[in-house]
Parts: sequence; structure tokens; C-alpha cells
Amino acid sequence: MAAIDTAIRAAAAAIALKGVSKAYDAHSVVIPPLDAELRAGEFTVVLGPSGCGKSTLLQMIAGLERVSGGAILIGGREVQDLEPKLRGCAMVFQNYALYPHMSVFDNIAYSLKVAGMPKGERIARVGAVARMLGLDELLGRKPAQLSGGQRQRVAIGRAIVREPGVLLFDEPLSNLDAQLRHDMRIELADLHRRIGATTVFVTHDQVEAMTLADRILILNKGRIEQFDTPRAIYHRPASVFVAKFIGAPPMNVLPVTGDGMTLRLADGQAVAQHADSGQFLLGIRPEDVTASAKGPLQAQLRYREDLGSHSVLAVDLAGSTLRIATPFGAELEISAKLALDFSPTRLHLFDAGTGQAIANAFGPH
Ligand SMILES: Nc1ncnc2c1ncn2[C@@H]1O[C@H](COP(=O)(O)OP(=O)(O)OP(=O)(O)O)[C@@H](O)[C@H]1O
Ligand SMILES: [Mg+2]
Repeated sequence: MAAIDTAIRAAAAAIALKGVSKAYDAHSVVIPPLDAELRAGEFTVVLGPSGCGKSTLLQMIAGLERVSGGAILIGGREVQDLEPKLRGCAMVFQNYALYPHMSVFDNIAYSLKVAGMPKGERIARVGAVARMLGLDELLGRKPAQLSGGQRQRVAIGRAIVREPGVLLFDEPLSNLDAQLRHDMRIELADLHRRIGATTVFVTHDQVEAMTLADRILILNKGRIEQFDTPRAIYHRPASVFVAKFIGAPPMNVLPVTGDGMTLRLADGQAVAQHADSGQFLLGIRPEDVTASAKGPLQAQLRYREDLGSHSVLAVDLAGSTLRIATPFGAELEISAKLALDFSPTRLHLFDAGTGQAIANAFGPH
């Protein structure tokens, strides 16, 4: 990008959510009081199922929805009662609206013009953003003459052109095809490295979450299930919900019973050693199961998906379906008997009642 005018560029600011809650009416609490600290310059991805409150949370930070309770601090300043334009955030909406009567150039340049940036500088800055977003050929068009994906890129350009201290994105890449999505993801990561705005990015896409985030905030019915680095979320999920939400195919979760020494599957096969007795859920990722000629667990192949680089096998194990990701297996016959093995260091254990992870259930790892 062209040289950055530091006079207009805002410093990244930490965002603190202190007991922030939202109820649209007395009967439906969308977000119960929620606490989170987003560090200055951090890239947070908010992930969760449809309707869990992601857009609501983002709009409360931006000031487009009022909070029902609690405080929002941006750069240490309470902003929950401030107008959106006084909060220093730029936002790309899920349903972004461009100025229909303005050209793409003017849409992107608008905030620079309002801020009084000289024309030459404006042209340079918009040109650099347009090149980055692949919009250089389209600067003279009106929004109605653009495809959905092109409009989405203009909306991103409009938000990033001022290089704000806080950038809020609500599924900004959802209308793009796979190739463009991939390219934009790399551009956004690069943009973040260069301008370092505190970024909150809502997505349904796990790959976006894993690759863009410094930390991922996983939301379930308005509550934080886990807020941690992608690695920690993947390798040490705090709950069954997180374990099943991240990973494709998701983690296998099997009911097991402990007798104080051994954990057993529903059909009595022993799977691991654990000192507590009771009902548990045992988690194992598809890539952490090995299927071989010899192994302690007996299973039967139900179906197989060949994906080129690897296969995903679905097997019956003790009345549950278990998925296995393996580079081998393309030659296996359906109904074949398989012997499975789990490495104890790759197992996860959850409380069957609460779904919460039991730390160090199989020793520290
Ligand atoms: N204006 C409103 N009035 C009443 N309920 C609302 C309003 N806006 C959103 N909701 C409800 O609040 C909940 C959270 O909505 P929100 O848009 O934040 O979800 P989301 O996580 O962004 O979902 P999606 O992934 O589908 O975009 C939903 O149950 C929704 O129906
Ligand atoms: Mg939403």
C-alpha cells in the first residue's frame, strides 16, 4: 500500500467488555452478562452457531445496538453511551449498505473526504486499497452495477481505508467464491500485520478462524465457551461444545463409564485408564485414531469418503459412529473389520453432565 498518512491513522485500542448484556425483550436474553478483554492490536475471531449473538455483540461494540447492562471500554474510555461515530470503530456489516448514488471510488473515499484529506492523497490511498481488493477496474461504477462479492469488497475497502484503531467485521467474506475468499484472507492477515488495528471478526468459517485469529472467542447462546489461541482451542477444548465445533470432521465423542481404574465403551471394550468412576464423554480427533491390522479396539467400516489427499472412514464402534481421517483406507471394503488404536496422549475427557473438560485426565499433555 502507498505510504500511510499517520496523522489520520488511529492507534489500536484495547476493548474491554464488562458485564455486557443484551435482552431484546424481558423474556429473551440474547447475551447474559459477559466479560472479555481484547488486547490492543489483537485479532479476535468470534465463532459460534447461527443465532448465538455474534452480530449483536459486534453491534454493541460499534454502538449500533444499545447494551442492556454493563460497560464497554475502548482504549480505557467508556463508550457504551457514545454515538457510533465517536467510538473510533470501522465496521463491515453482514448486510453492508453502500451509498447507491456514489461511485466505488467515492464510496471508499468518503470518510477520507469528510476527514479533510487532500485530494491527491485521497486518490493515492483509495488506489492502493482498490488494488489490494482487486477493485481498480471498477472504481467508476455504481454499487448497482457490481456483483455481491464486489460490493462486499467495496464495503471492506471503505472500512479499512482510514486505517481505524478498531475494525469490526461481520462475516465480510461470506459472498466470495473459494479462491477470492482465500486471497482476501491472506490480504486481511497482511493488512492486520501492517496496520495492527484491534480487530473483531465474526465468521462461520473455521479455516478463517484458525488462520486469522490471535485468539478465538467461541460463543454459545450468548455465553463464552472458550476464549483462547487457535492452538489451545484445537488441542485443549474447554468443553464438548468447543470440541465438536472446531475441526472437520469434528472430534469424535463417545460415552464411556469409569470404574475407578478403566474407562469402558458401551459394549465393555476398555479404552483408557482413568482414576475416577462415573459417566464421561471421551473425545478423540479423527486424525488421532489409527486403523491397522492389530489394535485393541474392534470396529466395522460403515462408509468411506475418499478426498484425494486422505480418506475419512466412518466406523461403528460400540454402537457409536467414529470418524477416522487417514491417508490410507481407499482400498478398504465396506463392512471390513478394523482394529483401532488411540494414543492416550491424544484423548480428551469431559464430564458427562456439564460437558466441561477434565484437565489432565490422562496425565499432562
Ligand atoms: N432486533 C431484534 N429483536 C429481537 N431479537 C433479535 C433482534 N436481533 C437479533 N435478535 C435475536 O438475537 C439472537 C442473536 O442474534 P444475532 O444476529 O446476534 O446472531 P448471530 O450469532 O449473528 O447469528 P448468524 O450467525 O445467523 O448471523 C437471535 O436469536 C436473534 O433472533
Ligand atoms: Mg450474524
